[in-house]
Amino acid sequence: MTKKTVEIFRSYKQKKEKITVLTAYDYTFAKIFDKENIDALLVGDSLGMVIKGDKNTLGVTMDEIVYHTKAVAKAANQALVIADMPFLSYQTSIYDAVRNAGRLVQKAGAECVKLEGTKHLGAIKAIIKAEIPVIGHLGLTPQSILQMGKYKIQAKGNNEIQQLISDAKQLQDIGVVAIVLECIPTEVAKDISKNLQIPTIGIGAGKYCDGQVLVFQDMFNLYIEMKPKFVKTFSDIGSKVSQGVSDYIKEIKAQTFPDDIHSFHLKNDK
Ligand code: KIV
Repeated sequence: MTKKTVEIFRSYKQKKEKITVLTAYDYTFAKIFDKENIDALLVGDSLGMVIKGDKNTLGVTMDEIVYHTKAVAKAANQALVIADMPFLSYQTSIYDAVRNAGRLVQKAGAECVKLEGTKHLGAIKAIIKAEIPVIGHLGLTPQSILQMGKYKIQAKGNNEIQQLISDAKQLQDIGVVAIVLECIPTEVAKDISKNLQIPTIGIGAGKYCDGQVLVFQDMFNLYIEMKPKFVKTFSDIGSKVSQGVSDYIKEIKAQTFPDDIHSFHLKNDK
């Protein structure tokens, strides 16, 4: 299997082939997704919620993203590894931004980094100048939760739509390889996707984006705190895990597990 590079973003858009991305935070799941030929694995700062149990992404640190990216990178034989730059890893200075993006590449195995918004274009430019590919992230940007108040659909009014279109163009012009569009109307995402040369990767942004990304715990019904409208349950692993744990408890209590087949014996086992 050949390892995918950021070139997939350019070539897929040209071929009109959709890009597939899933979040991953550990070796076990990353290995399964990679084997199924997913195009890219995103070590998202959504790990704040789905791994750490926080209520937002703001508490995620560089050390945590490095730790999880290392595990995912070991499993990614063919998928491109994207690491999120967490809150305050690029907002503080251009120097911090380049050092932190460099750390994700050098120490953790990331092949691309993702940054939210357009307020720190200097940081994005400097990272690209350091030869590290960058993915932008527009629409609902979870690191702005304190300003936004709550997670909600973005770019509904005309001013907001124009701003989003201009932000997307600006990111393209400074050289990002792709843009994640989160929680925006399908029509707006369609227009942006049509007018950009670089691909858009949607999450809650409808079918016209050039690719799609989901948080894997959402699509497998493993994260039960909330279920946004755009999430489809592709496999109800959550219910299967619940059933499995319940059976495990019952069998131990009933002393039917472990049985002979699942035990070592003096005579038959070496
Ligand atoms: O952190 C994350 O998982 C993300 C996706 C929602 C795109 O940024």
